[in-house]
Amino acid sequence: MTRVYRAPGRVNLIGEHTDYNDGFVMPIAIDRATTATMTPRDDRRIVARSGRAAVTVSLDDVPARPGGSWIEYIRGVAVILERRGHRLGGADVEIESDVPTGAGLSSSAALEVSAGFGLLDLAGHAIDLTELARACQLAEHEFVGTRCGLMDQFIACHGRAGHALMLDTRTLEPEWLPIPSGVRVLVCNSMTRHAHATGGYNERRADCEAGVHVLAARRPEIRALRDVLLADLEAARADMPDRVYRRCRHVVTENARVLRAAGALASGDLEAVGALMVESHRSLRDDFEVTTPGIDALVDAALGCDGVYGARMTGGGFGGCAIALVDEPSAAAVAAGVQQRYRDVTGLRADIYPCTPSAGVSRIG
Ligand code: GLA
Repeated sequence: MTRVYRAPGRVNLIGEHTDYNDGFVMPIAIDRATTATMTPRDDRRIVARSGRAAVTVSLDDVPARPGGSWIEYIRGVAVILERRGHRLGGADVEIESDVPTGAGLSSSAALEVSAGFGLLDLAGHAIDLTELARACQLAEHEFVGTRCGLMDQFIACHGRAGHALMLDTRTLEPEWLPIPSGVRVLVCNSMTRHAHATGGYNERRADCEAGVHVLAARRPEIRALRDVLLADLEAARADMPDRVYRRCRHVVTENARVLRAAGALASGDLEAVGALMVESHRSLRDDFEVTTPGIDALVDAALGCDGVYGARMTGGGFGGCAIALVDEPSAAAVAAGVQQRYRDVTGLRADIYPCTPSAGVSRIG
């Protein structure tokens, strides 16, 4: 019995670095995905293949220090699921993906979720998608070393065709927002990625936690930056390093932007959504400092084209992708224009394509 499982990558329309601060995000599952073709084995081994790379690991032999290769995404999910009481069997796993790796489109969540879903299904377990998302997030913390939030795994599990998901990451209450017809989200891949993305990500998270520590000393009911008003932050500004203050300012203002963007999207006010995207990008560039010159160039290039409502980096940052919200009839011209301008400024060729809001993980064969 061989089965095929598919989980999508994602873009995030707005709400960056808010998910590990109990805040709001607005991801969209995209029509690029990872498929895991899986055949059960009876020896509790996972024999995984991706391209020419093949790795075998045993579910009974978990190393104290994970090895840092792509297999840890699969092994990590399997180990966490077993720890949570889901006994699994071994499997041959063939991985194929058209989600570019290291581009900020969550290829890792697509891999974790497709493999985790498949392992649960092959073992005959009922699947709670939110529990699967949490297991995948923990796998990333423990086996990969990125202290990520839940956004990527959640949308890879729960994505819905035609919709963005406005998610409150504290309550996990979803609000599905239809993407209006006549508008497209263009993915613009800078084709650059900083080697220190994981370290930079964890440092940003630590800065946010340092800010909460200072703020909670003044107002003990503050548990996360989600609970902080700009006035709280301004009042505590002198008590924290300027860097920490600016990280916090990004998160506090970004949460407000997501809430406003959700209202604007629901009422079809694309100009307002676009303006909020641009504000978000500037905050990520100037306060959170996770953009790169290449990504800034892509965003500027998009904003210089007709038919663009807004543009911003998407995902964790440090390179990767920008997105642009564009009028559908202008999409091809915008793609060509951005490519040209980006090449003029950087000498690099950006990969640009429209994405279709898609469904979350499923068995497809
Ligand atoms: C990465 C993480 C997410 C989220 C984003 C930034 O994609 O995996 O949890 O923090 O960065 O918004």
